[in-house]
Amino acid sequence: MKLNPNMWKKLFDFAPDIYYIHDEKGIFVYANKMAEKITGLTPKKLKSKEFINLGIFPDYEIKKVSYLVKSVLSGKQIGPANVDIKNVKTGKITTVEVIAKRCYCGSKKKYFVLGVARDVTTKVIAEKKLHESIKKLKELNKEKNMFLSIAAHELKTPMAAIKGFTQLLNNDELVKDKEKRSKYLKIIENEVDRLSLLVTDLLDLTRIDLGTIKFIVEDVDISEILDRVQKEMQQLAKEKKLQLSYECKNKIKIKTDREKLYEILINLVSNAIKYTEKGFVKVVAEKQGKFIKFSVIDTGIGIDKKYHKKIFERFFQVDPTYTRENKGYGLGLSVCKELVNKMGGKIWFDSEVGKGTTFYFTLPINSRVKR
Ligand SMILES: Nc1ncnc2c1ncn2[C@@H]1O[C@H](COP(=O)(O)OP(=O)(O)O)[C@@H](O)[C@H]1O
Ligand SMILES: [Mg+2]
Repeated sequence: MKLNPNMWKKLFDFAPDIYYIHDEKGIFVYANKMAEKITGLTPKKLKSKEFINLGIFPDYEIKKVSYLVKSVLSGKQIGPANVDIKNVKTGKITTVEVIAKRCYCGSKKKYFVLGVARDVTTKVIAEKKLHESIKKLKELNKEKNMFLSIAAHELKTPMAAIKGFTQLLNNDELVKDKEKRSKYLKIIENEVDRLSLLVTDLLDLTRIDLGTIKFIVEDVDISEILDRVQKEMQQLAKEKKLQLSYECKNKIKIKTDREKLYEILINLVSNAIKYTEKGFVKVVAEKQGKFIKFSVIDTGIGIDKKYHKKIFERFFQVDPTYTRENKGYGLGLSVCKELVNKMGGKIWFDSEVGKGTTFYFTLPINSRVKR
């Protein structure tokens, strides 16, 4: 049976890909229904002039398309190559994967180009997303390795000190010198405290990253927590002759994780005391709509503007030597930030060098913990 041309046409119009034929000048002599759909042009318009001038390619594709047409006309088979096509009516961009070859039809003097173009837009988008995810994962992995190496380094430093001073204490002469002995023991004790603090913070951060941190939500009386914080920090403030107080005008009860809230406040108040030489440290708690806002105010050294962006980063310290004797590692604020975020609040600060710093954070009165 001989197929009639109408049947061929129907078949090509049924296809999900673009089928086209163009002549040496680059003018379509045939384009199927899918070509109309993707370009937004009628068959008549499609055949009206060289297809490169039909406005169906975004500017950034013109050079590539001209090159492809030239190659195929010179006898090379092209593709698969990706080309973006613009719909002249809607502006929608479709990425097609095109293959084309030259052939002689009828006489040997005239040739045509036969081409097939397949819509691969979703595939291209998916590949792009995949690439982005891989890039992000690589960055995260790098960050993790950095974290691990800094953590390991930080763990080694106090251990070296502990070992060194223990060896010194092994010296018979020294054991007789009571003053020196108690000085070295104090250093060892300090370093052990630092280690224990570091391990706690590291564990917290790891649990947050892994998503295994647990929050126990219960009714919490804010004055009670602030009382506890004050009692715990009083000694530290006294040693530096700083006035430590808190203000909580109304009786506020919120639903949140008591111990985590305590931990956040201890972190902020101990920072405030640590970085203040003169004046006071004050904690204020007040209701603000559906939230409670805490302010931890100090009259300390302040934070230079150039460090503001880095303050919540892990292991960041403006002056690492300053905190050496104060048991810091630059993890406290990153723990606070993660905890506050997970508990549904926000944390930020205002600071002026030489004048003081205020750290603020909010928590929902009815906490819903983020997973
Ligand atoms: N109240 C504050 N006043 C001045 N600087 C502060 C204050 N709180 C934090 N900082 C700065 O932010 C850094 C990071 O704080 P943090 O994460 O608690 O680490 P750490 O206290 O262990 O150094 C500190 O090293 C300090 O430079
Ligand atoms: Mg701290």
